[in-house]
Amino acid sequence: MEKQKQTASLHLVSAFLAMEPTDCVMSYARSLGGGSVTVDVQRFIWDHCISKAIGKCHAPYLKNFLKKLILEIESNRDDVLDELYELYSEFMISLKDDNTVKGNVRALKYISFLFPDDASCEDAMVRKMVVPLHCSLNMLEGDTGCSIWPASLFMSEFILSFPDMFSSKTCFEVGSGVGLVGICLSHVKASKVMLSDGDLSTLSNMKLNLKMNQMSTEDDEPVTSECLDLFDRAQIGGIRTEIDIMSLPQVKCLHLPWECASESILQGLKPDIILGADVIYDPLCLPHLVRVLSILLDKTKSSSQLPRVGCDGAIGSSHGHSDGCGSRDVVAACDSAGNAGPIEHPMAYISSVIRNANTFDHFLALVNEANLAITDLTGTLQPASLLPYMQSYDRSSMRLFKLSSK
Ligand SMILES: C[S@@+](CC[C@H](N)C(=O)[O-])C[C@H]1O[C@@H](n2cnc3c(N)ncnc32)[C@H](O)[C@@H]1O
Repeated sequence: MEKQKQTASLHLVSAFLAMEPTDCVMSYARSLGGGSVTVDVQRFIWDHCISKAIGKCHAPYLKNFLKKLILEIESNRDDVLDELYELYSEFMISLKDDNTVKGNVRALKYISFLFPDDASCEDAMVRKMVVPLHCSLNMLEGDTGCSIWPASLFMSEFILSFPDMFSSKTCFEVGSGVGLVGICLSHVKASKVMLSDGDLSTLSNMKLNLKMNQMSTEDDEPVTSECLDLFDRAQIGGIRTEIDIMSLPQVKCLHLPWECASESILQGLKPDIILGADVIYDPLCLPHLVRVLSILLDKTKSSSQLPRVGCDGAIGSSHGHSDGCGSRDVVAACDSAGNAGPIEHPMAYISSVIRNANTFDHFLALVNEANLAITDLTGTLQPASLLPYMQSYDRSSMRLFKLSSK
């Protein structure tokens, strides 16, 4: 299969499994068929998407997709596969209501991170890491924590693009939501992964996701996920895909509302790296969030158990600048050629969409008052685009900040 078609087939399957808008999935179907959804493309969609998703994926989504597919094929006066008609008519009887987002509807999405092994090579192989996630289709469920927000997709791309920055590090995330960032941290072999959220229903959904991804939380037995059965390791559209299942570390999940997180509990965590995705949005919570960050970043009280070796070789050296990507701290972090280099003090990475400039300015003022240094890394540390099929994900609006103690 030629390269363009291989890519279209991979993007088609990935977009379908991630429950991308049906128009997006249709665009890949068209591109696979050279402009129209041919019988061969329909067969591909049936074999690799629909037949595997029956009974597993969100039925209204599948019904809507089938409807779009059939309408488009019919409008082009092409033949529709019998299987597509049959399944759609079953849905017509069993699923009367077309509304896909009603109440707290949960769905299982599969986020596929696509790693090109060698983009310059004509028959480049693509390694695929698939993360099944239970999430809500209602953005506000679980205090917003049951949805997958773009900032966590960006943070995940960041972690997977610069694995050496996180491997062998103790990582702690605030406002972890569905747990995707923690799964990526485990994947790059962080030595310890601690996730937290202030919402209890979010926390229980997060634990479910960790279990589904073969990770154990402190109070759980490890489980083998049946959800991964949806995927095969076989060729999809001629492109080798594989699910990287490894022995993943235990993940600690904490109920940690920023308002009442005690100083002693925070000091006991001692993370090397603190992460937060889309946590800067509620002005009322910001003073509490900044308090939590400043305790975790405190050089004197939050130092990690890892020995600290400065770039000059001195143990515990702490006189690096932290005011830009040219600084010593960031130079160490920027060295993405495989040598992340040591970090001298805890630092925080926050990914965010700035929806409200006043809220963000308020955050900056609080950061300044707390004597924290903040650096905008957006232009300097660009993660690889690992979700190229996800048209609903606007990477261009993403910002990445580094915070450290002054
Ligand atoms: C917009 S969601 C982002 C979730 C996840 N990081 C992501 O990007 O997909 C914000 C998260 O912060 C959590 N959160 C909001 N306010 C909080 C607070 N005061 N204390 C602790 N967690 C809070 C919410 O429960 C939610 O999980």
